Amino acid sequence: MGKKIFSGVQPSGNLHLGNYIGAIKNFVELQNNKENSCVYCVVDLHAITVKQDPNILKNNIKETTAVFLASGIDPNKSIIFNQSEVSAHAEASWILSCVARMGWLNRMTQFKEKAGKDKEKASIGLYVYPILMAADILLYDATHVPVGEDQKQHLELSRDIAQKFNSDYSCPNFLKVPEPLIQKSFSRIMSLKDGKKKMSKSDPSDLSRINLTDNKDEIINKIKKAKTDNFSMPDKSNGLDKRPEVENLLGIYASLNNQSLENSIKEFSGNNFSDFKNKLAELVAEKISPISKEINKLLKETTLIDKILLEGSEKAQDIASKKVKEMKKIIGF
Ligand code: TYM
Repeated sequence: MGKKIFSGVQPSGNLHLGNYIGAIKNFVELQNNKENSCVYCVVDLHAITVKQDPNILKNNIKETTAVFLASGIDPNKSIIFNQSEVSAHAEASWILSCVARMGWLNRMTQFKEKAGKDKEKASIGLYVYPILMAADILLYDATHVPVGEDQKQHLELSRDIAQKFNSDYSCPNFLKVPEPLIQKSFSRIMSLKDGKKKMSKSDPSDLSRINLTDNKDEIINKIKKAKTDNFSMPDKSNGLDKRPEVENLLGIYASLNNQSLENSIKEFSGNNFSDFKNKLAELVAEKISPISKEINKLLKETTLIDKILLEGSEKAQDIASKKVKEMKKIIGF
């Protein structure tokens, strides 16, 4: 049986190789299995949990849509839309806020990381954001949710919320309990400057990530400058212990080449680092620069993007408004 897929990406700028390998590349593979039905959302309501400049946000919504299209998500096969156009997300999020427990949210590590030391100054939105994420998923009866490793805890929360709603309102299976789809390898791509830190759009150093809008020269330069160590290329996977930067670069190579980490280790054992980096730079440029070219092309004239988002939001609205209506009936509204 086909899967019902839902996933989202925040339009907060600087989409990078981590987003691509951890999530978007898999969105395309799932879409290309004809049995699946896929919904991919530009989650702009999530983006405003931290302050955004309205003009930049507007552009980032289009840019994220362009990233989806340039990476191979096809509006004829998948629904592509932006979250704020479908009001059921905000409505369902409120309802589910009354089901979720404070204790559950207090455990969310991403909030702790993002809020930092001064929790009191974080927005309430940032704190309750995983509930909105649950609403996104549950409105579409998603069976599977492809994400990177950093979203695992939020998905577990979505499962808890679905189960509690079904049990509180005695409606078994009404909200479908979603399965996370997290790749066994390469689900956490690390910074090019520090193999212990996730590659992230908010890292102040642009050299820490490959942006999906980087051109070939920028990509090659960043890979050249990526941190490595003073040892030789490993010949076994246990040779990667305590070598997070090398493991990350080999992982990027393996993932973009659709091969296992073991195979890429074999391929480069005995080589020197500069040979490996040249090959890696070539591969990343080969895979990413066509995407970045296509993004730029799509962004020159955005009527196509606007049309795709409008049509997508109508389709999403159809599904989500029905589900929220049923939710309200169950609640007694
Ligand atoms: P966001 O926008 O931060 O990231 C989008 C996707 O990219 C993955 N990702 C990574 N994967 C591997 N390595 C990395 N360094 C890396 N950085 C990011 C993320 O895991 C994610 O899959 N809350 C979500 C968006 C969201 C969502 C949803 C996802 C909102 N509603 C419903 C799934 C279902 C987020 O902020 O992702």
